[in-house]
Amino acid sequence: MNVRDSEIIWEMLREAGYERAGALEEADVALFNTCSVRQHAEDRVIGNIRKLACRKKKNPGFKIGVLGCMGRRHGEMLFKEYPFLDLVMGPSDIYSVREMLDKVFAGEEKVIAVRKDKRPREKVRNKYWDGGVSAFVNIMYGCNNYCSYCIVPYVRGREVSRPKNDIIDEIKELVDRGAREITLLGQNVNSYGRGLTNKIKFPELLEEVNKIEGVSRIRFTTSHPKDADKSLFRAMKDLDKVSENLHLPLQSGSNKMLDLMNRKYTYEEYLDKINLLKSMVPDVGLSTDIIVGFPSEKEKDYEATEKALEAIGYNSAFIFKYSPRSPAVSACLVDDVSEEEKKARNNELLAVQKKVSYKKNKELIGSRQEVLVEKVSRMSKDEMTGRTRNNVSCVFPGDESLIGQMIEVEIIGNSTYTLKGACT
Ligand code: 5AD
Ligand code: SF4
Repeated sequence: MNVRDSEIIWEMLREAGYERAGALEEADVALFNTCSVRQHAEDRVIGNIRKLACRKKKNPGFKIGVLGCMGRRHGEMLFKEYPFLDLVMGPSDIYSVREMLDKVFAGEEKVIAVRKDKRPREKVRNKYWDGGVSAFVNIMYGCNNYCSYCIVPYVRGREVSRPKNDIIDEIKELVDRGAREITLLGQNVNSYGRGLTNKIKFPELLEEVNKIEGVSRIRFTTSHPKDADKSLFRAMKDLDKVSENLHLPLQSGSNKMLDLMNRKYTYEEYLDKINLLKSMVPDVGLSTDIIVGFPSEKEKDYEATEKALEAIGYNSAFIFKYSPRSPAVSACLVDDVSEEEKKARNNELLAVQKKVSYKKNKELIGSRQEVLVEKVSRMSKDEMTGRTRNNVSCVFPGDESLIGQMIEVEIIGNSTYTLKGACT
């Protein structure tokens, strides 16, 4: 979502005549589009802006802005703590970045735009897109779920769906400009449509996008396990362009933790959904998010998560150490799992997942996979990379003329995160 927001910010500035600086030393302004989801992300931003503050001493004309979720979370406080900042903006305010920067360059000090209603103000179109094979399209903003650890509803606001026609028009324009793979973005795509005057649900939106000529592949993220259901799995099974891939954050395999996290499902309910999905879409690729070290997580809760990773067989898992995020509710709980323990559980789980990912990839050897060609491989200019329908990265011999095409490859090798293919 932040990548998409950065695209929008950048394109709006380009339209206003700004250019991307070749090196930081040449820049007149540095803008940080920030994430607040874990403390680590915020610490990195603070480290970076502190470094830039030294540059400001030598060159007072140099401007620094903090945009995005940190802007919304800390607001004016950022100016108090870091008086060298010139601009603070929240995630829903990015559409006024141009006016705000005009003020900054006109000499106004400590310019701030942090909207209270949190809703996006403009209908954003795909002109804010940098090109390539893949494009992100927002279908909704914000989140209503209030998982107890999560800052998102506080910084991105309540859930708002975009009207279907805006989304469809945006995708058509993207396709005209060369996009082949569309990733539909929302914090909880399965609740898409709530509050819209023209009633529509997410699987129906998928059906509409599936009809658009020129779209080769459709992905979506993220799904909440309580809302992902048979109608979604049916769409994945029946709609030819929808990839057989689901990112379904589990967070923990322990029901006690899931309850404290306010996730509104049990591990058994989650597993039932996964089993149903696997029975309907046997080749489905799965990925997940896990938090280790949530307050009061005991060894046996952690072990339940480890078992879940082994039982479900995700292709990949993003594993995070718990980080208290005030005003999210869990910040009131005692953060009683030590940093060492969090680190140990994180490392152990990564090792478990590595084995699972390797095994999943190895199972694909000998199969034929449809790959959407994305770019030249970083390892060799004679090889290209793309992803399979179930979202595994694949490297195979080829040249740039294949970019944007859908090709069939035979899988002849694998590593933990990548497949090796041969064009036959
Ligand atoms: N601490 C650690 N991880 C978190 N996530 C969200 N909030 C926190 C937090 N406070 C993780 C969740 C979510 C992913 C985007 O980030 O796993 O799914
Ligand atoms: Fe955060 Fe939960 Fe909403 Fe995801 S569903 S953005 S974890 S509150």
